[in-house]
Amino acid sequence: MFQNKPDAVILHISDLHFGPYLQGVSRVGEWSRIAAPHDFLLVLGLEEKLLPIIREYRDKLIISVTGDLTTAAEPPAYEVVNNYLRDHPFISDILHCGLTLQDIKDRLFFVPGNHDIWLHGRLFTRWKRYADRREEYEKYFHPQPPDVYPLVVNSIPLTIYTIDSNHVSGFNPFNFRNVTGGGRVGRNQMRDLRSLYASLSNSAASGVDTRDGYNYEDSLKICLMHHHLQRPDDVPLDLEQRLLELEDAEEVINLLASIGVQIVLCGHQHFPYQKTIKCSGANNPSILLSCAGTATQIDSKVNSFYVYGIKQVSTSYQLEVLKYTSRVKDGTYKFTTPQIPPSKPLIYTIDQN
Ligand SMILES: [Fe+2]
Repeated sequence: MFQNKPDAVILHISDLHFGPYLQGVSRVGEWSRIAAPHDFLLVLGLEEKLLPIIREYRDKLIISVTGDLTTAAEPPAYEVVNNYLRDHPFISDILHCGLTLQDIKDRLFFVPGNHDIWLHGRLFTRWKRYADRREEYEKYFHPQPPDVYPLVVNSIPLTIYTIDSNHVSGFNPFNFRNVTGGGRVGRNQMRDLRSLYASLSNSAASGVDTRDGYNYEDSLKICLMHHHLQRPDDVPLDLEQRLLELEDAEEVINLLASIGVQIVLCGHQHFPYQKTIKCSGANNPSILLSCAGTATQIDSKVNSFYVYGIKQVSTSYQLEVLKYTSRVKDGTYKFTTPQIPPSKPLIYTIDQN
């Protein structure tokens, strides 16, 4: 699969956009009648491709799910997507469905997307007992970001930062910025990230057990967030792209560069791309932004996810990128497998400073 045998593997899926029912979904549910939810056949296509990868690399695997797990934050949608990701339950006597990720839960990371927490209050919903959808998200997935996780996976030291890019100040029934797709990290979260960094980069004071070989300086530093920091150069800044922007992207880029983050994994844009963001005068000269696109939303032109192979070469890390795509509109529910050779592998070199 990879050209170079990886030391560690990251599976990056995003924007699953689950609705409240697993099977036969098409514009049913509450608000997911308006905004398109997932397609069941794509869910099966994703599983068909991922399960062999998960089995092969289970001991060296990190899973990154970068938001929009649901389309409309309906409580049963959280339950369904959670079951799909963590379990492999029976749908019928002969059909199972799910990715079985629960037993690698210490390497399973989530961040919320704008669709996961866009609704607040008891208006405009039949789920009146579930007024705070952020609380609902946290029940199934992680406590409130930001957070940081030091890891050693197959001798590779990694630092994983998680950020919530859906910050809102004050609530209204629709969390309006999140409805329209905009994002913000906010000053409080940036302050918390600085103190997480200060604590972790001083390992003696952080309580991190360094016997396994972890140290902050040598670790590959990866940040997960839902919103993209920059759009691709060939995508014009039209109204849609303006609405999807992260308000404080420049500040966030400067902060991440100053704490040594080398890779940012995101979703939000429903197409896959990578972009190198130059960071002048920072600890590291650039950040590699990788957007996974939407894995399973029904109405997208393309569905996609990434698998990254990490290999340590002297004082650098090589990141080999495998892109998987499917085009439902062409009647294709299966994800393509990247062919290497004849195509040239996509490899980024990330130097340690
Ligand atoms: Fe999305």
